[in-house]
Amino acid sequence: MGRIVGSALVSHHPGLMQSEDMRRLMGAGQDSDLIPGYALLRDRIEAANPDVILIFDTHWFSTGYHLIDGGDGYQGTYLSDEMPWYLYGVPYKYRGDPEFAVCVEAMSKKMGGYNRAVLNPDLARHYATINLVKQLRLEISDIPVVSSSICQNCRPEHFLKSGEIIGEAIRQCDRNVVILASGALSHRMTDIDWKPNHPSVFNESNVSSPEAELMRQGRHDKILDDWETDFVPHFWEAWGGHYLQMLGALGGADCRAEGTPLCNYENARGTGNIHVWFDEQGAA
Ligand SMILES: [Fe+2]
Repeated sequence: MGRIVGSALVSHHPGLMQSEDMRRLMGAGQDSDLIPGYALLRDRIEAANPDVILIFDTHWFSTGYHLIDGGDGYQGTYLSDEMPWYLYGVPYKYRGDPEFAVCVEAMSKKMGGYNRAVLNPDLARHYATINLVKQLRLEISDIPVVSSSICQNCRPEHFLKSGEIIGEAIRQCDRNVVILASGALSHRMTDIDWKPNHPSVFNESNVSSPEAELMRQGRHDKILDDWETDFVPHFWEAWGGHYLQMLGALGGADCRAEGTPLCNYENARGTGNIHVWFDEQGAA
């Protein structure tokens, strides 16, 4: 019987893939707090000892299905077409878990869902996955990584259902899994001619909607209750599909997993970034 041995909302801020010198320049002498946050997250993952890491990738948009990648492994040199002037030449090589991906698809058929495994090894990579593979050193720990898409035909209940199916598949296919919801909270970007409010680009005062910080108390039921009125206006990355699918896997509105922030809440081009860890025992 598999289980979710830990989960986290994680930033994939692309600026952090630059050298420490460049990051300190952006931070008015100070590095981003998300960097030591990654180290804390690595410790948590190591302690949880998962068989596989599942990433909800908010840059992988799919149509008609929640896709889950099922390649034996992925290898290449990553070039971002979004910011190719600095995010390029990133070598990656990590293992996948085809059996797990197929298990999710089978469970989805059984439960009337729309999750579909993609076994084509040429499937494109996105930096919401690659940046975490690199920052969390998942190639070194050699833990298989499986990414799941954000289906753009979904309302919140569809994301929750996808997560519920994935949670059931985890139990049935005998994997201990860490789930990483890779994305920002507030994702309203600043204009192209924006001038920072604070000399450190990372400072929270540069976030469009700093009030979006939440979750410490584990009252995910309240977040869901007020989703349309209080949370949609904060422009979550990918409509919050990464958080909602993770939450669905953890039990949805019954989940009381308390969030532990592993770093400060920081700006990245107006978006709100933080790593928040949720212990497995908090899950329903
Ligand atoms: Fe992003």
